[in-house]
Amino acid sequence: MAFDLMPFMRDIKDINGPLTIISNRAPYELRKRAGKATYEKTVGGLVSVLDEIMCQDGGTWVAWGEAAGTVERVSVPVEDPKYTIKLIQLSDQEVRNYYQGFSNRVLWPLSHYFLDRCHFRTEYWKAYESVNYKFARAYASGARSQESIWIHDFHLTLLPSLIRGENRDLSIGFFWHIPFPSAPVFRVLPWREEVLRGLLGSDLIGFQLHAHAENFLQSVEDVLKVPVDREKLIIEYEGRTVRVGAFPVGIDYKRWNTLASNPTNEEKALQIRREVGGKYLLVGADRLDYTKGILERLLAYERFLEKYPEYHGNVCLLQIAVPSRTRVEEYMILKRSIDETIGRITGRFSTRKWVPVRYLYKAFPIEELVNYYSAADAAMITPLRDGMNLVAKEYVASRIGDNGCLILSEFAGAAGILKDAVIVNPYNIEDLADTIHRCLSMSESEKQSRMQRLRRAVKENDVHWWCQSFLQTLAQTSQGRKTEVAGINPPTSLT
Ligand code: F6P
Repeated sequence: MAFDLMPFMRDIKDINGPLTIISNRAPYELRKRAGKATYEKTVGGLVSVLDEIMCQDGGTWVAWGEAAGTVERVSVPVEDPKYTIKLIQLSDQEVRNYYQGFSNRVLWPLSHYFLDRCHFRTEYWKAYESVNYKFARAYASGARSQESIWIHDFHLTLLPSLIRGENRDLSIGFFWHIPFPSAPVFRVLPWREEVLRGLLGSDLIGFQLHAHAENFLQSVEDVLKVPVDREKLIIEYEGRTVRVGAFPVGIDYKRWNTLASNPTNEEKALQIRREVGGKYLLVGADRLDYTKGILERLLAYERFLEKYPEYHGNVCLLQIAVPSRTRVEEYMILKRSIDETIGRITGRFSTRKWVPVRYLYKAFPIEELVNYYSAADAAMITPLRDGMNLVAKEYVASRIGDNGCLILSEFAGAAGILKDAVIVNPYNIEDLADTIHRCLSMSESEKQSRMQRLRRAVKENDVHWWCQSFLQTLAQTSQGRKTEVAGINPPTSLT
């Protein structure tokens, strides 16, 4: 076990009652192993930490049971059950309209400032509403009147109010993982009022950055005409106090550091370098999503190859793209554009002995990702907009030799924390091309001092810190409850 969660969870449990987590995706997935179906934990530091809390303390996790068939409940971990997942069944039409539709073709593009990709369809909204009801009903069966609930992300904005109902004793926390857009953008949403009122059923609403919390407050003021207190970061709403705050999500630094320190990692990293050939290796790793700036990155790399021919034969960009939301049209179109662009760059610059881009369209377990991060001289993390971006932090945590260079978009939430990265505007193709050259020719001492500071920042605000600070603030905020829980700085200090 990475660290002992028990003391602070005990305090929180005493104040708020047992914890229920609600999210769109479940922490365990149904997989077939040797012909036998079993539930396995999904990859990701965030899920691991939340799973750790649930395993120590018991409780319930409510989530969409994708591929779970008719199974409604599963006790996990399967080999030694500690808590229960309530699985919600969605019909194909619900998946199309609630998940692919309202979540991924309305709230996702809107929150990432891609208004031209928003499809404001009534059938999407109706399904979103009814699936949120479905989650609320699933939660309510067997729920206790005094407990704390932690709801995750933009798929479930209506849930806090639906669950709250008349129940003032419940302690409800909501974490918004993606950017919250500025008020003039948010106001475009035809169902803006419903979404805000839904969220305001919470006691605490957490965002990645203080700027996102401010955008939310401004939207509440503009849309609902409800006064907000920007100093205290609170809203008095329907006789309750709703608090907002910034809690930048971290990674499991220790785990990445340990994986990177394993001697087999060094061997594998060297092997990757040998296989791609040449002197310099750049890495990009993203879900295949238009917000990630993969296409713009490729264009910048192409421009770099045009401008700096001295690197021909000596550099490779290894792009990992994890298949994502593959049934959503925008993602299919993007995939084609990326395939074409990579084809063009490869055809234009390759020689018999050298291929300038390697493209891996698949998901990797973290034990393999760490090999790529350790192998690369620089990581290109250049989203057009991102709530946080954990890949940037994973790259840093993998650089145990304090070397390597992080090229980071100013539009990633991570840029607010990783100030020693080389910060770029991913839309500025010319500048990004020059930045690649700058990073590859940067002195070792500059890389080292930057990386040391970056590693400190990632280590200090890791996923355990995130989880603890959110839950402790929830305990302090919950209606009518005063707590002596000590130790963690209040999130308002984060900007
Ligand atoms: O970062 C936002 C988010 O929705 C996460 O909650 C999720 O893990 C990720 O994007 C992947 O998206 P999806 O769940 O649609 O595959």
